[in-house]
Amino acid sequence: MLHKNDDNNARASASMTSTELAREALPQKLKRKIKRSLGPWGIFIEGFLRNPVMVGSIVPSSRFTINRMLKPVDWANCKLFVEYGPGVGTFCQPVLDRLPRDGMLIVIDTNPLFIEYLRKNISDSRFKAVLGSAADVEEIVKAHGFEKADYVLSGLPFSTLPEGVGPAIAAATHRVIRKGGAFLVYQFTPRARDFMARHFKRIDNGMEAINVPPCFLYWGWKDEDEG
Ligand SMILES: C[S@@+](CC[C@H](N)C(=O)[O-])C[C@H]1O[C@@H](n2cnc3c(N)ncnc32)[C@H](O)[C@@H]1O
Repeated sequence: MLHKNDDNNARASASMTSTELAREALPQKLKRKIKRSLGPWGIFIEGFLRNPVMVGSIVPSSRFTINRMLKPVDWANCKLFVEYGPGVGTFCQPVLDRLPRDGMLIVIDTNPLFIEYLRKNISDSRFKAVLGSAADVEEIVKAHGFEKADYVLSGLPFSTLPEGVGPAIAAATHRVIRKGGAFLVYQFTPRARDFMARHFKRIDNGMEAINVPPCFLYWGWKDEDEG
């Protein structure tokens, strides 16, 4: 589809000399070259600059955060793992490396730049990248043939999400997780715990210092004896 700006640019380009065109293309070329050399970092920074409030961080999670966050998961009994806000997929490969062969990882992100990047770069058949909001997790899980998720991981910036979105996501997440499963959350502020505590009775707390910035880790368990 040709947008109005593309149309104007095309008209302007038509009246330029070839030298002017070459000069014009140089910053674009340079931008593309820098982006390519930065790899996933470049995409992440671009995603942050385009939408700082929704992304909430300019640096992806460290491997220390990843390993600690995923450690309590019972992988042998994990058929469906859901991740909110995967960004450029910092957690995706570590999750796929631990997931059983017949398991599935569904990631949900509101940013089309990240979803497009993940679809292009992760070719595992157990991986599904969905453009949408975590608030719609129940519909998304059902659309992929599941009733419940075993675990849900969240890197969402709960404290900066639009009014009402955080509580709606916490409630939907509690409903979608099976008994015995858990909601795994990492955040730079302890605020996410308040959203979780309205639904999850048992929450384990942690802190990872080797992360930029250091972050709070929470594991909210949906116990077998819950109503
Ligand atoms: C801090 S970044 C995630 C970083 C990444 N998971 C990592 O470990 O480096 C937060 C992500 O949440 C996404 N996001 C924000 N609101 C969302 C929502 N309602 N549903 C799904 N994703 C959302 C943003 O687009 C962004 O990719």
